Amino acid sequence: MAPKVILTRPLDPTLLEGGALLDRAEQDGKIQLVRWTQDKPVDRQWLLNELRKGGTEGLVCMHNGEKIDNELLDAAGPSLKVIATMSAGYDHVDTAALKKRCVRLGSTPDALTAATADVGAMLVLMASRRAGESVRAVIDGKWPSMPWNPLLLCGQSLKGSTVGILGFGKIGQLTLKRLLGFDVSRCLYSTSRPGVALDPSKDYFNTLATASFHGVELRPAESYDELARECDFLVTCCPLTPSTQGIIGASFLAKMKPTAYLVNTARGPVVDSDALLAALREKRLAGAGLDVVTGEPNIGADHPLVLEPSCVVLPHIGSATVQARSGMSRDAVKNCLAGVGVEGFEWANEVPL
Ligand code: DGY
Repeated sequence: MAPKVILTRPLDPTLLEGGALLDRAEQDGKIQLVRWTQDKPVDRQWLLNELRKGGTEGLVCMHNGEKIDNELLDAAGPSLKVIATMSAGYDHVDTAALKKRCVRLGSTPDALTAATADVGAMLVLMASRRAGESVRAVIDGKWPSMPWNPLLLCGQSLKGSTVGILGFGKIGQLTLKRLLGFDVSRCLYSTSRPGVALDPSKDYFNTLATASFHGVELRPAESYDELARECDFLVTCCPLTPSTQGIIGASFLAKMKPTAYLVNTARGPVVDSDALLAALREKRLAGAGLDVVTGEPNIGADHPLVLEPSCVVLPHIGSATVQARSGMSRDAVKNCLAGVGVEGFEWANEVPL
């Protein structure tokens, strides 16, 4: 019998390669597909009920709000072979619980690298050029009362600045590469072990040579303290783990320059929102650009970070290009089909557990 697969969000086959792959696999009788058909997050109870019917071997799921935990794994029972998340991050997955049950995990880190790096660079510019504040002024009809003047809405240039990248994997490296064109002078980066230089075999985009071509000094920060102290722009691109949760907290922010900007394209909880808000309000930090915020998507117009003029907030659009989402859907579906053993499919990316 063809393996049963559950899909937790519609994947439009005309735009998303993964949707077309799944449809074909279903039509060819290679899988039995059970779909959540509404274009909104899957209802947890519906999913648990479907899993409890038994026989599910693969689950294609999303990042936001879809917790893969013991309750869900219990509901699925021993037939479950693979969780394929359509996301690079898998902080919504209890990896230890998967490991214990020998369930494999697939993620989609490669398809979204370029799109997320674009948003990192865009937020650096938006924050430092006060784009959020500027757009808000126009939408609020204030432009007629704020004629051009020499210092109106002036921000800071990147020329000659020091950029810091916290989390120097693919997204971090490509974000830096995007920023090299803005005449920065220096870049300090940090992986999970500060002070450790990038292994050249992990220089995915020839970033070392490109930095040198641009005359940019590129080296590992000796410590998180140095990263905080020296950067004019700090971009967080690290995964959310117990050791990165709250890493940009009150003590880190206290060491940053009052002229510096913070950009977060990683996960909201990497930054302590209250500490950030205090730093911005007290002008201990010049500004921030956030694509992710703790508590999302429940970030209303009255959220203090949304109301803070020096902070520009985007609704988690890092990977939001049709190209990236199509690639993510393809890779998630490939992971799932390979994981349930459909012939002709290989893993795009398996997370080691
Ligand atoms: C990811 O893939 O991890 C992005 O943040 C989208 O959820």
